Amino acid sequence: MIVNSILETIGRTPMLHISLRRGEVDLYIKLEMFNPTGSMKDRMALNMIESTHSEVAIGIVESSSGNTASSLAMISAVRRLEFTALMDSHASLDKILTVRAFGSHVQIVGNDDGALATDERDEQARRFAIQNCYYWTEQHNNPANAAGYAGLATELLDDLGPTITHFVSAIGTGGSLCGTARQLRMHVPGVQVIGVEPVGSIIFGGQGGHYHQSGTGTPQGANVGMVIDYDVIDWGRKVGDDEAFSTCHYLARRHGVLVGGSTGGAIYEALSLAREAPVSSRIVALACDSGTKYLDTIFNEEWLSKHNIRVIDVEAQFADLFAS
Ligand SMILES: Cc1ncc(COP(=O)(O)O)c(C=O)c1O
Repeated sequence: MIVNSILETIGRTPMLHISLRRGEVDLYIKLEMFNPTGSMKDRMALNMIESTHSEVAIGIVESSSGNTASSLAMISAVRRLEFTALMDSHASLDKILTVRAFGSHVQIVGNDDGALATDERDEQARRFAIQNCYYWTEQHNNPANAAGYAGLATELLDDLGPTITHFVSAIGTGGSLCGTARQLRMHVPGVQVIGVEPVGSIIFGGQGGHYHQSGTGTPQGANVGMVIDYDVIDWGRKVGDDEAFSTCHYLARRHGVLVGGSTGGAIYEALSLAREAPVSSRIVALACDSGTKYLDTIFNEEWLSKHNIRVIDVEAQFADLFAS
């Protein structure tokens, strides 16, 4: 494939098929790390930039845990836009360096206590936009975020048609889950949509607490943005860091697929679901980003033990699903 711009390589990502319960249930993992910056966020970032009518703005600002910032930085390089990312002090170094590599700027927000500073980042982005005459893409409240996943739904329908029974994904801003689900439902009205957040995130209620899954969930005290559309979600589920990161290890060691922690959570939930799902279920789960962004955390034994994360044997836990 020859392209005239890296932006042409966004989308058309492959799917990994895993047969479960001796062929009774199929799991399809949509490998979004094949997008140019290694995450699904390239899709929504392009759509947010293309849908802006603010030609007056000389640049773009966004508050991000890292993936949206990487995507906006890559697109800004191609489109010759100025971009500043507001990121947490504990954002992965890989993500900070990626934004800088594209020629964009990073401002670090919050202190180093590991707490997520989502609201503080948003407030600084708002002020930065006003002071510098920049456009704040405001991913938590921008309909172009969710709309950016229409192509993803089309790809799923092209590959699997109306046979999809379940759609499972992590939820942060809600753009990928709700945007894809809304389109899917138009063609597959009965599809079950399951949002997965970390234990400690409050999107589906419950007690707030600390978690290490990056990019996903909403911490206690932060606002749940307007992009989350509870009407298109059937169930909300919570998965702990132990289970999420152990699933990343399972996927890496058993299937050779490196995914991030939010994907680990979604796949763990998809496997739990596969146990109870009716025969002939076809479960689609999104792999949001690449595990190469987390080699020094999720895949680093020292980091895991420092944060009291216990790696469990996912293959043994779901042995009934994997028996051939
Ligand atoms: C790794 C990762 N997983 C999940 C999400 C959540 O996706 P969304 O914001 O579309 O709900 C994000 C968002 O930043 C992310 O970076």
